[in-house]
Amino acid sequence: MSANTLPRIAVLGTGGTIAGAGISSTQYSGYRAAVSGVDQLLAAIPALQDVASLECEQVAQVASQNIGSATLLHLARRVNYWLNEMDCAGVIVTLGTNALEETAYFLNLVVKSRKTVVVTGAMRPSTSLSADGPMNLYRAVVAAASPLTAGLGVLVVMNDQVIAARDVHKMDTMTVDSFKAPVFGILGWVLDKQVRLYKKPARVHTDDTEFDTSQMDTLPRVDIVMGYQDDSGVAVSALVNAGAQGLVVAGAGTASLSDAMAEAVSAAVRSGVVVVRAPRSATGIVMKNIEFDDSMHGTVAGDTLSPVKAKVLLALALAHGKSAEEVQSAFDRY
Ligand code: SIN
Repeated sequence: MSANTLPRIAVLGTGGTIAGAGISSTQYSGYRAAVSGVDQLLAAIPALQDVASLECEQVAQVASQNIGSATLLHLARRVNYWLNEMDCAGVIVTLGTNALEETAYFLNLVVKSRKTVVVTGAMRPSTSLSADGPMNLYRAVVAAASPLTAGLGVLVVMNDQVIAARDVHKMDTMTVDSFKAPVFGILGWVLDKQVRLYKKPARVHTDDTEFDTSQMDTLPRVDIVMGYQDDSGVAVSALVNAGAQGLVVAGAGTASLSDAMAEAVSAAVRSGVVVVRAPRSATGIVMKNIEFDDSMHGTVAGDTLSPVKAKVLLALALAHGKSAEEVQSAFDRY
């Protein structure tokens, strides 16, 4: 294919370890995330010239745990802007991996297009021996350039694998195979210049959602609290007093709560805060009224979303003025 017949793909940079630099090629300690521009990351991979015609934009330059509401909303607007360009086939977002899961899921709910959106990052800084960023970015471009990936919602491409944004978990703090889909499995692979997919996400995403953030400049405050043995519930009350509009409680087992925590949660609900129960365990489902009386306490069962993804969905639902009952429907749908 000649350069002008290649698909046009926009690559949006936000920082992270993929753009990070270390003190030496063999040492992690002392490395800094978010140092190189996305243009430099692309320039370091000449093989991309044969895959797509690339545009790039630096949307942010941060470590992913510092991405706040304003940056998330700005990123969504820039993704939607590029997808609205007639001849743009897809968008790639390079992200830090620490909080990649929640940014990917946020985009999965607010992108308004059937065109492909791929998120990628790296576990090793770009200056490392065997840095994983360049191959992840190359694979992300191959995935975004393929017609096979359109209409599947936001996809995460890491370590040769294609994973749905709703399903992806960062399983390990350090290893290059950290990103997995432990409950629902990966969608497929990107190997050489081939995308091989085996299934489709079942939950509603992108232009089928009711969420429109185009005019928002902030999101409601939602905090996460972990429940534990003999929990006093004090953290719940403190967060409500600090102004939380929504809370995700990551409870033990099927998101069970201690009696004191349950009392604090009930008080939060009575004061107008929407509370979602999500699993403290790495995987599994939290169903309404199993081991905890959601009907009595006025709480929402978080289905299979992890606490960080439950926070994203709850914030979006609250931003759209939803009641606790409507939030429950959102968790049953998305
Ligand atoms: C970050 O999340 O921004 C830093 C860590 C990483 O990208 O792996």
